[in-house]
Amino acid sequence: MNPVKVGLLGLGTVGGGTINVLRRNAEEISRRAGRGIMITHAAARDINKPRICDTTDILLTTNPQEVVDNPELEIIVELIGGDGLAHEMVLRAIANGKHVVTANKALIAKHGNEIFAAAKEKGVMVAFEAAVAGGIPIIKAMREGLAANRIEWLAGIINGTGNFILTEMRDKGRDFAEVLAEAQSLGYAEADPTFDVEGIDAAHKLTILASIAFGIPLQFERTFTEGISQITREDVVYAEELGYRIKHLGIARRSVGGIEMRVHPTLIPARRLIANVDGVMNAVLVRGDAVGPTLYYGAGAGADPTASAVVADIVDVTRVLTSDPENHVPHLAFQSDAIADTPILPMDEVITSYYLRMQVQDHPGVLADITRILAEVGISVEAMIQRPSLDGGYTVPLIMLTHQIVEAKMNKAIAQIEELKAIQGQVVRIRMETLG
Ligand code: HSE
Repeated sequence: MNPVKVGLLGLGTVGGGTINVLRRNAEEISRRAGRGIMITHAAARDINKPRICDTTDILLTTNPQEVVDNPELEIIVELIGGDGLAHEMVLRAIANGKHVVTANKALIAKHGNEIFAAAKEKGVMVAFEAAVAGGIPIIKAMREGLAANRIEWLAGIINGTGNFILTEMRDKGRDFAEVLAEAQSLGYAEADPTFDVEGIDAAHKLTILASIAFGIPLQFERTFTEGISQITREDVVYAEELGYRIKHLGIARRSVGGIEMRVHPTLIPARRLIANVDGVMNAVLVRGDAVGPTLYYGAGAGADPTASAVVADIVDVTRVLTSDPENHVPHLAFQSDAIADTPILPMDEVITSYYLRMQVQDHPGVLADITRILAEVGISVEAMIQRPSLDGGYTVPLIMLTHQIVEAKMNKAIAQIEELKAIQGQVVRIRMETLG
């Protein structure tokens, strides 16, 4: 059988990695796919730029449309990123009857519903394993390996840059900005690094995971997102003292009132395996009713790890090229006519525990005032530490861990505490999950 011809859009880190992995493992890959796989055409903004890969037998162009419209090509691999040109090219490729493989989390999270509908209409596949957690085959694991389960919740470290920053702050006491600059130079950070530190990148990925877990449409705009830029080294140290680690988690959970979708810094018990996922590594913990908790760990970014997922998708598409499109694995795991309209829970209704840190005046009655406010809204304190003053005795840091409470009540309590004269500045609040 003739090799399948593939067109590549984007020749950056992941594009270069994809070419390298396909070349390096060509024989084994074709044994798996049942056909050879050849990248014959590629588009890049600057075709003369030095690359990490050999492009000698690939026809290069600066015009992605030429690749997408080429009738010889059966699969288009979109590695442009963002949701402008990439969106246009993916829809065009689908309209041309081509299968698409993409690593673009923003594109799938924001336009996936439209893209999958177009793909269904044309009977083509859109594969996006590389969009979430780089090299970890989490989409395949959830969509196929866990198909027997009712998924209860998932929690993931799904942004390597953020995890690298938190790890370096904890282990080496390094400064936030300095670690971010290093992540950028290593090629892990997004083009706009605020996507990493403010949780937008993780929210894109969580949106995709939640849809696959619960069979709901992609709803990026309804994912609560809070970044790590406000986390200080002292919070990291206090959390450790209390037996917790701060991780930037994406959490999706089926709860009574609807589905929680949230990305925020989270205290988790230091003994959990996921609390020990350090540096740029990613991990996703998924709890299914039949299997219990399962943990998927690996490189969440980088040329070869992301290429591993891209090439696996190309192999999948190649395998089913001649099969009945109605029998493909559905994009969001559930059949498109069985997607549910389960409500997304507003953040105010989420129930969780909290780490609170506040700077308080050190005199009698202050603690009583704070605990009275907490008690009035039904918040119970689990642990508390007070540290000696750093400003000559005027104020002291007070750290509290609370039992679970609905977020709206915690918001009310924090607002009242911040009004106390004895409180200096704002109350730092980090949500806490036992992941038990
Ligand atoms: N900026 C992302 C990260 C790259 O740091 O995880 C992979 O999506």
